[in-house]
Amino acid sequence: MNYPQILDDIFQHVQPLLGQGKVADYIPELAHIPLHKFGMAVQMVDGRSFHIGDADEPFSIQSMSKLFTLTLAMQLAGDAIWQRIGREPSGTPFNSLVQLEYENGIPRNPFINVGALVVTDIILTHLNDARQTVLDFVQMLAANPAIHFDEAVARSEAETGFRNVALANFIKSFGNMHNDPAIVLDAYFHHCSLAMSCLDAARAGLFLANEGRLLKSNEQLITHRQAKYIKSLMLTCGLYDAVGDFAYRVGLPGKSGVGGGILAVMPGHFSVCVWSPGLNESGNSLAGTAALELFTTLTGISIF
Ligand code: DON
Repeated sequence: MNYPQILDDIFQHVQPLLGQGKVADYIPELAHIPLHKFGMAVQMVDGRSFHIGDADEPFSIQSMSKLFTLTLAMQLAGDAIWQRIGREPSGTPFNSLVQLEYENGIPRNPFINVGALVVTDIILTHLNDARQTVLDFVQMLAANPAIHFDEAVARSEAETGFRNVALANFIKSFGNMHNDPAIVLDAYFHHCSLAMSCLDAARAGLFLANEGRLLKSNEQLITHRQAKYIKSLMLTCGLYDAVGDFAYRVGLPGKSGVGGGILAVMPGHFSVCVWSPGLNESGNSLAGTAALELFTTLTGISIF
């Protein structure tokens, strides 16, 4: 397979799409990210990696962080997390409040905002410092100690994230948040503000393609079974109310963020991260989705 050529073809193909869509300006600090950016990185389980475009430029990973926080919560609390979070697609926008009321404060899944707030609460209960733990974890996964929180982005969300504040307090009222909502929110906003490149993210996500094992040390980070659970949730819940369209077009488990990143994995083969800040109406990267669709089409490799 000629991966450099395939990435080159994709890069040419997405050019007319760059500049389309809308940046996530509901987080003011993300409003000025140039719309025409595009990067893509593929990390293979055999150690090879390929990339193109702005693949080494850090971007705001936003909800892609929910993958890493869920992994940590699973490590810490195992199956007990499912007493507090569901495993079904929500079919509603990622910041919706409506379902929570009639489902008694149990978030539909760990990848909507309120689900990730409960995940963060679980980490906090076990470790006291959910901010630093998650930063250390992604630095280790990506083998890059330079990965950092973008404090301006975290502050921007803290100043304007009224929906997340509402969700945290609402869930507290149901007894499904054990720590102080303000501390949980601060950690959550910081996780979302993590600045990583496509190269970082593809490396960080590789354990999911590698049966839960780290490539370099062969350490079993989570069990094979837990890696299966996370990938299943990515496939069914990783792209919010556009998850069906993404599965249809791309055919890989994925997790998106409103920074314009999407991390997807092909079990036993590779992890791939694409970044382009222009979002479609569901809040997923427009050119990023097209690039991944083309990637699985040109390689002929998808889970289906
Ligand atoms: O909480 C928020 O709204 C953002 N920090 C993250 C949302 C997000 O990335 C949803 N993704 N598609």
